[in-house]
Amino acid sequence: MISIAIDGPAGSGKSTIAKRLASMLDYLYIDTGAMYRSATYSVLRANLPLSDEKAIVDLVSGLTIELVGSPEEQRVYIDGTEVTRDIRKDDVSSAVSEVSKFKEIRRIMVEKQQRIAKSHPVVMDGRDIGTQVLPEADFKFFLTASLEERARRRKKDFEALEESLDIKQIMDSISKRDEEDANREISPLKQAADAMLIDTTTKSVEEVLAVMLRIINKNEKKEFTS
Ligand code: DC
Repeated sequence: MISIAIDGPAGSGKSTIAKRLASMLDYLYIDTGAMYRSATYSVLRANLPLSDEKAIVDLVSGLTIELVGSPEEQRVYIDGTEVTRDIRKDDVSSAVSEVSKFKEIRRIMVEKQQRIAKSHPVVMDGRDIGTQVLPEADFKFFLTASLEERARRRKKDFEALEESLDIKQIMDSISKRDEEDANREISPLKQAADAMLIDTTTKSVEEVLAVMLRIINKNEKKEFTS
């Protein structure tokens, strides 16, 4: 089954690009960040201490997390309740790295992600897709952007949720999350050796998509004619 892996830090443009690409190619879009965010949202709702690994694993292993709908209008449900907007809020963003660093939490999520990719063509975005989840992905991209630009993009996302945070606050929060995601022991945020690096700081969504589609089309043609 064909798969495209897109990794990168917060605000690098991964999900905007991954959604558009999945929509253009008519593949499933799997937002793995939404899965870790859903787990974290449930942990916060249950008032579990972020240090209580066992209680967190017990809770998360019993959850049904669903990504429903087309790539560009994807909705997220936990046990049948919609949480699409709730999982994007600042409280979840601040705690998600703590929850997603646990080995058993990652095992549960990766198993789900690999199962979906086995039976559907997918565009999957996250932190460890090219390295751990889909090491055999047909195409791998790693997106980056400057911290300032990433913070500007996140500010817009928060504004859409009617949360107003200043740019300095957002820069601090995403650099803390980058640091935690890149330095955790298990499956850290890392560019796969065979992933193509794209710096999106000064590129429009269309420009990034054009670069990716050029690579995808060229390689598909090569496989077809060889
Ligand atoms: O892509 P995002 O910002 O919505 O992801 C939220 C968090 O989830 C991110 O800070 C770390 C975690 N995550 C992860 O550990 N592995 C993934 N494949 C995707 C996200």
